[in-house]
Amino acid sequence: MSIQDANEEPGYFTEENSAEVVIARNAKARDERLKQVMDVIVRKLHEAMKEIEPSNAEWMTAIEFLTRTGQICNEWRQEWILFSDVLGVSMLVDAINNRKPSGATQTTVLGPFHVSNAPRYPLGANICLDGKGQPLLVTGTVKDTDGRPIVGALLDVWQANEDGFYDVQQKGVQPDMNLRGEFTTDAEGRFWFRSAKPRYYPIPNDGPVGQLLEALGRHPNRPAHIHFIVGAEGFEPITTHLFTRDCPYLHIDAVFGVKQGLVADFRTIDDLTKAAELGFPNPFIAVHWDFVLAAK
Ligand code: BEZ
Ligand code: FE
Repeated sequence: MSIQDANEEPGYFTEENSAEVVIARNAKARDERLKQVMDVIVRKLHEAMKEIEPSNAEWMTAIEFLTRTGQICNEWRQEWILFSDVLGVSMLVDAINNRKPSGATQTTVLGPFHVSNAPRYPLGANICLDGKGQPLLVTGTVKDTDGRPIVGALLDVWQANEDGFYDVQQKGVQPDMNLRGEFTTDAEGRFWFRSAKPRYYPIPNDGPVGQLLEALGRHPNRPAHIHFIVGAEGFEPITTHLFTRDCPYLHIDAVFGVKQGLVADFRTIDDLTKAAELGFPNPFIAVHWDFVLAAK
């Protein structure tokens, strides 16, 4: 910064002009979008501080919280995303980026438990590798917004087990790649696979975000759901869930991920022949869902 630049600043930093001084200092940012983002953040953050009036001790508590949030992150633990999730910011970003009523299936959070190399299975395969839980048949279709079936659409599926844990949280307890897999729709845009009914579960709450929820008197649970990423050549992919309508946490998701249009009926089927065909005990659970993708 040159002396001349310094003379263009709005004066020494004071409590009154604090945001203005900092924003002026960023005037020569090389990236216009970065400047815009930082201007808004500085303005809103200074406004918040002026309203909160933190003591030095309170500010240190905040710094320590943010430090621990970074320190607990590793290859499989992303505490910052969790923080964004419990603040409702992840769902707000999702809403901002899916504003247009495309006619496609609604989207929701990705979450931290997706793995990118899940096994590719033929239709009908059972992704419940340890046989635990209530047997579940998942059937459905993938169609475009005009109702035409999409052949060869890829569904990437993952879910928690009947105890509310993902395989990656229980290494050595659940088989690797339990309750996850990829399927491709058939010539009529249909898919089907076998699984086990998922249960609600707490988001990882043994770190700073869990402590924050506890201090705020909030529970950490997500309602029972199955995750899907559905994509096809020439269509916008969607990241979404199917929620079970009967879950007690449906209306109080810790990360605000539930949307009315993603709640599905997981029905009890009492049909000896069908159960035998599927290799299931009778009765079993079944859910049917029709995904819709919008063209790019
Ligand atoms: C999940 O559904 O896997 C998830 C989403 C947000 C935070 C934690 C878990
Ligand atoms: Fe999940």
